[in-house]
Amino acid sequence: MIGLGVMGRNMLLNMADHGFRVAGYDKDPAKVEALQKESMGNAIHSVADIRNFIGLLRRPRAVMMLVPAGSPVDSVIGDLLPLLEKGDLIIDAGNSYFKDTNLRGRSLTGKGIQFLGVGVSGGEEGARHGPSIMPGGPKEAYEQVRELLEAIAAKVNGDACVAYLGPESAGHFVKIVHNGIEYALMQLLAETYDLMRRGLGLNNDELRDVYGAWNQGKLNGYLVEITSRIFGKMDESTGKGLIDEIRDVAEQKGTGMWTSQSAMELQVPIPTIDLAVAMRDLSVFEKQRETASQIFNRPIPPFGGDRHVFLEQLGHALYAATIIVYAQGMAVLAAASDKYEYHLDLEAVARIWRGGCIIRAALLEDIRLAYRGQPGMPNLLLAPQMSNKLMANQEDLRRVACAAMELGLPTPCFMTALGYFDGYRSAWLPANLIQAQRDYFGAHSYERTDAKGTFHTEWTKDA
Ligand code: 6PG
Repeated sequence: MIGLGVMGRNMLLNMADHGFRVAGYDKDPAKVEALQKESMGNAIHSVADIRNFIGLLRRPRAVMMLVPAGSPVDSVIGDLLPLLEKGDLIIDAGNSYFKDTNLRGRSLTGKGIQFLGVGVSGGEEGARHGPSIMPGGPKEAYEQVRELLEAIAAKVNGDACVAYLGPESAGHFVKIVHNGIEYALMQLLAETYDLMRRGLGLNNDELRDVYGAWNQGKLNGYLVEITSRIFGKMDESTGKGLIDEIRDVAEQKGTGMWTSQSAMELQVPIPTIDLAVAMRDLSVFEKQRETASQIFNRPIPPFGGDRHVFLEQLGHALYAATIIVYAQGMAVLAAASDKYEYHLDLEAVARIWRGGCIIRAALLEDIRLAYRGQPGMPNLLLAPQMSNKLMANQEDLRRVACAAMELGLPTPCFMTALGYFDGYRSAWLPANLIQAQRDYFGAHSYERTDAKGTFHTEWTKDA
């Protein structure tokens, strides 16, 4: 393992726990020492010299790296190349941009070195005790490390949360989309928090209990669970709820943005994920928001409805929006699979997301079954398992969106989830007007409903 930050260190300890003989390298001696301390009892060699590190490995070597995406990955590959031999394997287990993975894979293959781009999700805890693992690259290279990855991955009913996903950047692409879904689910939860806090005036204990109760039902999932825990956490220095001491600014490392960019390139609409990225960006404009809040001052009106009923509706609305977010994410995967020839098995993707990763949720088992029933489905919403659930909850999504608009609270992810759903279920859309406008101002031509071919009209000429 190259990169002994907490993720790399924990993955290595996880491997050692499963009886694999492993070694670690980091150029920072403090990190090497940290691993040595933590690995007491496990014979893990850790060194701060890359030559010594390579000398510890059995041939053909398998070197996994967990370093920040971008230039650090290229720099490690550059350091490794003179020390490796034909047939050795490099595994990039970080959050790399999929196009970088393609370039690296092709360049390394040309040099006789095998390369796998592997998405790993689950944070520090997952890395230590079982992440969800999304590998892509040459199948033969995967087979070399299959046993290891299956051993360290999270298990759901004994089933390892890892599957070979496809060639080249298939694994990193799936991980990017995982993170896009993660962003949208986090933003939806943040919007429910806002509605309950500023809209209904719930305190932190009540919020903890609402999310806790949701986690016991159909909304069960890791992000709902940790949200409940967050509202129960007290700040040691002030004795108040820690959440209230945290600035309202959310930054990002870029994976959500890559999901949106990639979807735009593929011309697949994922507006709820786009808005989740946008809301993080908007949160950063703290000063402007402060000024605008004075210019556009509009007090939040008292909530007029039944609070208990609204909380029920909010849970149902979140469930409906969650289904829509997964549908958007899976639709990008389906399009990428065709365009980039990944040959993704979407049932396998849902299966390995059921455990270990940040977006793990009870709903993923239903999604897996939906793809098992109809593997080639163009959109998850078309599966009866999903359409029934959505129909049963969509009215509450509307009620919540209306309430949010009246309160003046920002809920763009709820609104785009609903907008996407209403657009998708519209047999007719007003795009004929857009065709006409394009032809009017730019002679871009249009298609007709009653004849084949393309047509142009001199719009300003009298009939
Ligand atoms: C995971 C997480 C992980 C990481 C993200 C956070 O699946 O384990 O997604 O990859 O926490 O990089 O991303 P942002 O910093 O962009 O929120």
